[in-house]
Parts: sequence; structure tokens; C-alpha cells
Amino acid sequence: MTTIGIIGAGEVGSQIARAAIANGYTVVIANSRGPETLTRLIAGLGASARAATAAEAAAAGDFAVIAVPLKLINDIPAQELAGKIVLDTNNYMPGRDGHFPVVDSGEKTVHELRQEQLPTSKIVKAFTHIQAPTLFGFARPAGSPDLAVSSDHPEAVSLVTGLYDTFGYDSVDNSPLSESWRSGPGTPVWHRSLMGGQSHDALVRNLAVATRLRAEQ
Ligand SMILES: NC(=O)c1ccc[n+]([C@@H]2O[C@H](COP(=O)([O-])OP(=O)(O)OC[C@H]3O[C@@H](n4cnc5c(N)ncnc54)[C@H](OP(=O)(O)O)[C@@H]3O)[C@@H](O)[C@H]2O)c1
Repeated sequence: MTTIGIIGAGEVGSQIARAAIANGYTVVIANSRGPETLTRLIAGLGASARAATAAEAAAAGDFAVIAVPLKLINDIPAQELAGKIVLDTNNYMPGRDGHFPVVDSGEKTVHELRQEQLPTSKIVKAFTHIQAPTLFGFARPAGSPDLAVSSDHPEAVSLVTGLYDTFGYDSVDNSPLSESWRSGPGTPVWHRSLMGGQSHDALVRNLAVATRLRAEQ
């Protein structure tokens, strides 16, 4: 049985946990305040879930999900994630997280920064342009919506493509991480995701026509 270590137990972390458990995974999930604060979530998720610290969740996972906003100073357990595929669900929200100058200038994407913070992990951008509450119920076995995936590691793209498929989504490979801004907040892909997602052709088209937005816009 495959275990997913999920760091972040808010909207995204809890919904990915729910979808994963429904598809036969076990999950170990963490927040910032400690496992004792996750009793209610674990009761709702059932016997295939347990709460842990972030380091324990990272260590337990065959692969991991970071469902936590990026910080400029790394607060994610790098050692426990060494060598693992790590799905990063982060969206850049300067109003929430503050400005990151290298992202604002277009020099780097937030996911490249995450890859720098976790250099021995294989970062893959995933689940960023779907509203978390719709992730579980919206999926269907074939057809729209499709989801984008970006990574510098082909094996990480393969894993996410398989996971999307298991959850009922098809995928479009928008690698490498330096191209991942094309599905970020403010882009056509992002706007369409707020209206229920997009089919394969629309996603390909929307990724292609994206223009890099300055964070102030
Ligand atoms: N919400 C959506 O629909 C959506 C969709 C796609 C992508 N995203 C992106 O996904 C990320 C997570 O969003 P969200 O909506 O799930 O946020 P959220 O509801 O605010 O939840 C964030 C979670 O992260 C935990 N956390 C924060 N810092 C941590 C740390 N250092 N170690 C362990 N846990 C930590 C929080 O724990 P505490 O509560 O204990 O502090 C909380 O459980 C964001 O970057 C967001 O932009 C969101």
C-alpha cells in the first residue's frame, strides 16, 4: 500500500487526503500546530489516515505533498524528503505571503525556489489550478477538466500523471518548472479553473497564450 505524506492540513491537504484515501492510499498528514490539533480531520478521514508532525509525515511518505504556502526561509523538512517526489500545490499570493523579488522579476518561479530549498527532492507542481473543495467531487473518469503538471524530473511528471488519472483527471505536461508560471494566479488557466476547469484543448491553448504577469497586477 502506498503512503502519501501530506504537509498542510487545510483546504488542499485535507481534500487531497480525502481523494487519496478513496483511491486506496494511506496518508500521514501534518499541520503547523501539531498532530493533537488534527483529531477531527482524522476522525473524518478514517482508519487510512493518521496525524503526525511535518517531519514524520515527510519520512512516512513514499512520496509527499506540500500543501503549504512557500516561505523565503525554508520551513519544510528537507532531510526527511531527500530523494522523494514532492508535489507542490503552492500558488504565489504576494498579498498573503509577501513579495519574492526573484519571482516578481520573472527570474524564477515559486516552484524553482521550492526545488532550491529541497535540492535532493524531485519537486513537481500539481493540483494548483483546481479549487480544493471541488477536487474530490468534480473529477470524472474521462474528459474535462484536465490539469497541468510541471517538473524538472520526468519520473515526478509520471507519478502525478498517474495520480491525476486515478483521481479522474487527464493531464497536460507543462514542464520544466521554469514554465510553471503559465498556470499560476492571474493566467487564463487560473481564471478558467475558477469557473470549473478546462478541457484538454483549452488547457493547452491557455498555457500557450499565457503572459507573465507582474505580481502587482
Ligand atoms: N485553497 C485552494 O483551493 C487552493 C487550490 C490550489 C492551490 N492552493 C495553494 O495550496 C497551498 C495551501 O492552500 P490551502 O488553501 O490548503 O491553505 P490553508 O487552508 O490555509 O492551509 C494551510 C495548511 O498548512 C499548514 N502549515 C502552514 N505552515 C506549515 C508548516 N511549516 N508545516 C506544516 N504545516 C504547515 C497549516 O497548518 P496550521 O493551520 O496549523 O497553521 C494549514 O494546515 C497554498 O499555497 C495555496 O495557494 C490552494
